[in-house]
Amino acid sequence: MSEKFGIASDHGAFELKEYLKNVFSSQLNMVDYGTDGEKSVDYPLVIQAACNKLLAKEVDRLIVLCGTGIGASITANRFKGIRAALCHDEFTSEMSRRHNNANVLVLGGRVLGKELAVRIANKWIETPFEGGRHQNRLEQIEKC
Ligand code: RB5
Repeated sequence: MSEKFGIASDHGAFELKEYLKNVFSSQLNMVDYGTDGEKSVDYPLVIQAACNKLLAKEVDRLIVLCGTGIGASITANRFKGIRAALCHDEFTSEMSRRHNNANVLVLGGRVLGKELAVRIANKWIETPFEGGRHQNRLEQIEKC
């Protein structure tokens, strides 16, 4: 796959971020935007920094995590041009790509088991956007 992926989390999902990075970095071009340990950090700052890298096109897509995924999701969706999908299962992960062209996948480190998180991320990574009528809807979102 030629796409480049970023990954970032706060301390609440540091362990899961490291796990996902280890699983995917052998098959994907993946850049780690922190955090780099269990020490408490403010998720808005880590997630904002990673979103700015995505918008600057340093990476093509982004995976962000916090304890629940909620704070990371709220933060990422404040950025125009970002479509962040908080997913807890493979179906919503797949649909977030097919219908919503989500460019950010959000996961909760205190919510998901590691293997489920891998399956959700894998589905999101491999699923294409369908375009067509869904593209019109994305353009409507951009006018908000
Ligand atoms: C950090 O304790 C926690 O609040 C954060 O990881 C996240 O769950 C916020 O939504």
